Amino acid sequence: MPSAVVAISGASGARYGVRLLECLREANWDVNLIISNEGAINLDLECGMTPSQLATLHGVVLEDNENLAAKSASGSAKFDAYIICPASGTTVAKLASGISDNLITRSGMVAQKERRKLILVPRETPYATVQLENMAKLSNYGVVILPANPGYYHNPQTIEDLVDFVVARILDQLDIEHQLSQRWSGGEISLANDAQSTKSPDNDLHT
Ligand SMILES: Cc1cc2nc3c(=O)[nH]c(=O)nc-3n(C[C@H](O)[C@H](O)[C@H](O)COP(=O)(O)O)c2cc1C
Repeated sequence: MPSAVVAISGASGARYGVRLLECLREANWDVNLIISNEGAINLDLECGMTPSQLATLHGVVLEDNENLAAKSASGSAKFDAYIICPASGTTVAKLASGISDNLITRSGMVAQKERRKLILVPRETPYATVQLENMAKLSNYGVVILPANPGYYHNPQTIEDLVDFVVARILDQLDIEHQLSQRWSGGEISLANDAQSTKSPDNDLHT
């Protein structure tokens, strides 16, 4: 069974992490979950649940962010992917500097040193220059920087549609088949060229 470490750090967007967890479990992935203190605040604010409630709901292992002896702290424990979703500017900065002072940053460093898939989902706006530099640095190291920036060309109707847009991109990175959003077919542009409005609520523009 494929396995992942999913971390929810203290940026807004905990609900992206919650939806990702749900999709990974549906795809039969084993998940070790880590949530920072500020991650737990955002989880409560946005989803009205505690870390242990989330872990129990999806049947995943909840690891203590302060426990650097936990499974995901070791390179000898093999995981197929490490996803920090959302990733705060602080966690991104630590990873860009080689700091592993909690389980989230330690597992992120494990992913880097073992050359395993590491996906960061930052959420901040606007970005400070140092944050942009940190992300560029990590991208050059092979880390996937996948910002929580939903697109609108698929005509989203609900917040869940926007969340799914971002989670779909994460699942694509993990080669997990999904039905979260339709894929771009190319026919959408000819529709626009035919002078039909692509903005009407009942248009057929999906990707
Ligand atoms: C309610 C709340 C919302 C926050 N939103 C963001 C955010 O969107 N992006 C961000 O980078 N930091 C955000 N922060 C700040 C981080 O939580 C803070 O930098 C913290 O040190 C991150 O630590 P962590 O990465 O270990 O979770 C927020 C904090 C709180 C309390």
